[in-house]
Amino acid sequence: MNTTMKAVRIHVYGGPERLHYEENVPRPVFSSDDLLIRVRAAAVNPVDWKIREGWLQGVLHHNLPLTLGWDVSGEVVEIGPEAGGFTVGDEVYARPNIERDGAYAEYIAVKASEVAPKPATLDHIHAAAVPLAALTAWQALVDAAQLQTGQTVLIHAAAGGVGSLAVQLAKVRGARVIATASAVNIGLVTELGADEFIDYTQTRFEKAAKDVDVVLDTIGGDTQERSWQVLKPGGILVSVVSPPLETVAAERGVRSAFVFIDPSGEQLTAIARLIDEGRMKPLVHTVLPLNEVRQAHAISQGGHARGKIVLRVAD
Ligand SMILES: NC(=O)c1ccc[n+]([C@@H]2O[C@H](COP(=O)([O-])OP(=O)(O)OC[C@H]3O[C@@H](n4cnc5c(N)ncnc54)[C@H](OP(=O)(O)O)[C@@H]3O)[C@@H](O)[C@H]2O)c1
Repeated sequence: MNTTMKAVRIHVYGGPERLHYEENVPRPVFSSDDLLIRVRAAAVNPVDWKIREGWLQGVLHHNLPLTLGWDVSGEVVEIGPEAGGFTVGDEVYARPNIERDGAYAEYIAVKASEVAPKPATLDHIHAAAVPLAALTAWQALVDAAQLQTGQTVLIHAAAGGVGSLAVQLAKVRGARVIATASAVNIGLVTELGADEFIDYTQTRFEKAAKDVDVVLDTIGGDTQERSWQVLKPGGILVSVVSPPLETVAAERGVRSAFVFIDPSGEQLTAIARLIDEGRMKPLVHTVLPLNEVRQAHAISQGGHARGKIVLRVAD
């Protein structure tokens, strides 16, 4: 059996030129509770270029060289003796552990508990666009904010990877959604279910939104700071970018949370059900071959993707 594969790795931290498409990378080391997945598609997320640039060295423990990419859709090709619940040939998707080698590769080893059957109604390209962003939306809105029917949620960057799924999940939860994006995305975000749209380039969102129960902060910085003003007493600011200051939350009589997502095959199973019921769908901004990964990172880093950038790894 061939013991090497094609993969994109970094050997040092730095710019997109540090991404190398290599032909003879060793196949992943495979543990007893792992599935070996043949990757069909891998999505690009902002965390990929943040790691590539070395921003997360203090938080994550990576050895270089490192294969990036933590969104995968593919087929199970081998099953560890302690990895139950799957059969060779199953079509699956996952947001694998970010501290291991990722999915910009022909094969990835993923703990079985992090994997779920992919949504039956999606092809691999669209399935790869789901796990990381959908788990983020779920763990922010459902787990951290416990968003309820009838509540109002302000979702920043509603046209982005996380935001576009968060809008749809919030509607599934029965919430009223106020969404921020630039004017070009008004049709898209409204079609996803947003009840109100704020063009953040023209309007200060804190003047247009008030009495909000939940803010989902996908931007950080000044956007996070101004977000406190829209919350009603007891409301919650959930950031996936940087931890909001608890002292400010206490002064204002509101709550805050920071979410850094965990893998979860169980939550991905629930998300697949919603997708197959037609209640959520991923947006794919563009599809590129694996060896055009530098271009994919440039688009992501540009900050204006509509949904996800997906790498086609195998047909
Ligand atoms: N903590 C975690 O576990 C976790 C998980 C996932 C993501 N994240 C982080 O969350 C952030 C968002 O991720 P993502 O994948 O959704 O990013 P993304 O898809 O790259 O976001 C792009 C979107 O951002 C919008 N945008 C840019 N500036 C904006 C602003 N000031 N106000 C409103 N919208 C704005 C753009 O809309 P326009 O073109 O209309 O401007 C575009 O549609 C990243 O920093 C990522 O690292 C964290």
